[in-house]
Amino acid sequence: MSAPTLEVRNLCTHFFTRAGVVKAVDDVSFTVDRGKVLGLVGESGSGKTVTGFSIMGLVDAPGRIVSGSILFQGKDLATLSEEEMRHLRGNRIAMIFQDPMMTLNPVLRIDTQMIETVLAHEKVSEDEARQRSRDALGMVGIPSPDERLKSYPHQFSGGMRQRVAIAIALLHRPELIVADEPTTALDVTIQGQILAEVQKLCATTGTAMIWITHDLSVVAGLADDIAVMYAGKVVEYGDVGEVLDKPLHPYTHGLIGSVPSRNKRGEPLRQIPGMTPSLLNLPEGCAFRARCPRAQADCVQRPELREWLPARLARCHHPHREEAAAA
Ligand SMILES: Nc1ncnc2c1ncn2[C@@H]1O[C@H](COP(=O)(O)OP(=O)(O)OP(=O)(O)O)[C@@H](O)[C@H]1O
Ligand code: SF4
Ligand SMILES: [Mg+2]
Repeated sequence: MSAPTLEVRNLCTHFFTRAGVVKAVDDVSFTVDRGKVLGLVGESGSGKTVTGFSIMGLVDAPGRIVSGSILFQGKDLATLSEEEMRHLRGNRIAMIFQDPMMTLNPVLRIDTQMIETVLAHEKVSEDEARQRSRDALGMVGIPSPDERLKSYPHQFSGGMRQRVAIAIALLHRPELIVADEPTTALDVTIQGQILAEVQKLCATTGTAMIWITHDLSVVAGLADDIAVMYAGKVVEYGDVGEVLDKPLHPYTHGLIGSVPSRNKRGEPLRQIPGMTPSLLNLPEGCAFRARCPRAQADCVQRPELREWLPARLARCHHPHREEAAAA
């Protein structure tokens, strides 16, 4: 068997601020195989974007990767130089950012940007590259792509710009895409169309994908596996259908409620009572303790991510084990 496209092991990315050390990502591990989609979910501030930026080599001071490894086809990205990472980002890995202007160049026409992207990766004629660009815009639901190709980014609405940024990432045909909530602002029909295209791309080209989102219905429909983050850590990890139907971790349980996932489509994550703890001042032991209905005395001991059922991991001393094990 070949190595997985991406294997993140015990990743820690911390920010060394004047107020103290912010452990934004603290012991995060997961694997994404060829052609698979990992859904990365969790409340605001749980470390999803910093995880994505760490993989892409885009963490800036005062932050840095302090430990762990990011194996891309077996090679540790955390040890590469800035130059080597830039080369990879242009070729084999891509990120779709929350803000499309992180991808688009404001002073270049869309056709120039797209055609250059194709030509940088493949030896095809300019006509062929233009045709590809046109098709890619069509794929993300942009009407009259021929006309649109002649526009500049500022001539598009925010939603259209995001669709162009997605089209460019798909055009690339990278081996790994990290997508950071790119469809949240789009209307439901367009979002559905883009998700279907993304799924097709992964299945046909073998692209591995990390899809960061707050929207469980997106994860349910798109992802193969799910990693749930809380306060910088993965607290639950496993097959998406199993986790959404029978969560192990009390936090995941709270997010999706007790109703099976198929009845929850279209609903955002539920609000859980209580506040997310400050990353500067995490309580000892389990970070979810103050909000957890199952907390017991031993939860002051830090729980490790542990395999409670085959391929079902949770970071908790008292997971919903019997419910999850029941058929
Ligand atoms: N440059 C920085 N300096 C200090 N702290 C930072 C910096 N960038 C991010 N953080 C902290 O890292 C933590 C994780 O942030 P991150 O952006 O990864 O969260 P997120 O899960 O993507 O949230 P959201 O859903 O709101 O996008 C936050 O507490 C944030 O304040
Ligand atoms: S370790 Fe304890 S406090 Fe933390 S989630 Fe599990 S039961 Fe709740
Ligand atoms: Mg984010």
